[in-house]
Amino acid sequence: MSHSENNRVRIFDTTLRDGEQSPGASMTLEEKLKIAEVLEGMNVDIIEAGFAIASNGDFECVKQISERIKNSTICSLARAALGDIERAAEALKPAKQARIHTFIATSPLHMRVKLQMDPEDVISAIHGSVTHARKFVDDVEWSAEDATRTDLDFLYRAVETAIRAGATTINLPDTVGYATPTEFEQMFRSVIENVPDSDKAIFSTHCHNDLGLAVANSLAGLAGGARQIECTINGIGERAGNAAMEEIVMALKTRADAMPYHTNIKTTDIMKASKLVSTVTGFTVQNNKAIVGANAFAHEAGIHQDGILKDAQTYEIMTPESVGVAKSTLAMGKHSGRHAFADKLAELGYELGDNAFQECFRRFKELGDRKKTIYDEDIIALVDDEVATWANRMQVVALNNYSSSNGHAVCDITMTIDGDKVKAVTYGSGPVDAAFNAIKDVIEFSPKLQHFQVHAVTHGTDAQAECTVRLEHEGRTANGQGADEDTVIASARAYVSAVNKLLVKREKKAPGPV
Ligand code: KIV
Ligand code: ZN
Repeated sequence: MSHSENNRVRIFDTTLRDGEQSPGASMTLEEKLKIAEVLEGMNVDIIEAGFAIASNGDFECVKQISERIKNSTICSLARAALGDIERAAEALKPAKQARIHTFIATSPLHMRVKLQMDPEDVISAIHGSVTHARKFVDDVEWSAEDATRTDLDFLYRAVETAIRAGATTINLPDTVGYATPTEFEQMFRSVIENVPDSDKAIFSTHCHNDLGLAVANSLAGLAGGARQIECTINGIGERAGNAAMEEIVMALKTRADAMPYHTNIKTTDIMKASKLVSTVTGFTVQNNKAIVGANAFAHEAGIHQDGILKDAQTYEIMTPESVGVAKSTLAMGKHSGRHAFADKLAELGYELGDNAFQECFRRFKELGDRKKTIYDEDIIALVDDEVATWANRMQVVALNNYSSSNGHAVCDITMTIDGDKVKAVTYGSGPVDAAFNAIKDVIEFSPKLQHFQVHAVTHGTDAQAECTVRLEHEGRTANGQGADEDTVIASARAYVSAVNKLLVKREKKAPGPV
């Protein structure tokens, strides 16, 4: 494998921008900051933090990520409009390395129907937008939206204009996920061969997965001369999503013999990033998903298990450890003391303040009383749950429920709202329904449940349940997570966590009580 700079592939992560455009994937500012930190830790080259002009929330997010992240370039999207570019530049001001990413559609269909612009006006807009962006930053990316359905001769002119105006990266997206790998490779080769000064820019892929070809197309783009790939964690994004970063990075690492390119990504952080994005968005990773699915390294058939025991390479082309899938390790028992618990938290990468530590330790001891074996995953679920509820206005204090096979259930809940205790007792068609009704009684409004999902953190009937809930109220959506060995309590915690986020969103718009 050649490790020349010429074969280095820059990883441009757009989980926080294109990924967030997945219906229902809204993330809070704190969640985005957490994801950005994980991406920086993985050595992602460029983080697209948002679309600064889209909303005040997006602006704030680009700005705060620019303040916090030092080792990755921070990027904001901007249409070919002066106001968009200025807003992006303003949000990126604190960034150590900033990039403005400006785009305009170039396909006949998009120009005629969506933009209602003549091709010549599009060329002027490219010149104007890139020139304007260069007044603020040296690092400007220009994208030809719907490049794969653009006439090649027009694409040459558009790219030439962008490079002349100072674009340093040229992105040719497969916006609608329509291209085949051969066509996509050929498009890059043709553009690079036919555009004067094409060597002055780095070419980039941005593939959507409508036909399930996003990763294959991205890799084909490299063969055609691209050296940047735009992708997202778990492949989230508009419609069928974007190319999945974990698949691209591991394909390049595992098949370096066939594809002589390399990235700087720290692959052992892949699982951590995948779990975080899945938890925050509420989008579960399917069990058979490549690299990060629960079954990606599981071997069911006896003949496979036998082979694996003799030599893992019989059925494993990469090791689970290389993507951060650790074997479940026995964490500790109920007799473990504070020091051992603090050491374990440090090993798992947590730094908790005093109060949060005390509360986590109390819950860990409680868990030890009820659950025989405590794994690292149990501690991670417990601490994530505690950290998520910390500083929230509402918390579940106690919950008792009764359910019977005749379809009736009762929930008796005690919660705190801004420190005051509130109680409710309600019925439901099942225990979770009764718990959600009780919470609605307490909060005195009725968010719509859009998504509800439970999964077991480890094996066995005493495994902790991790629950995700997505709520919608007055046009705003929020995801909440909760964990507990009792599924109903985990569900209630998740519901309350989503309500807390809805409250934050609502307060940002119109301060005042609920
Ligand atoms: O899919 C696309 O074309 C985009 C552009 C804005 C880069 O997301
Ligand atoms: Zn896109």
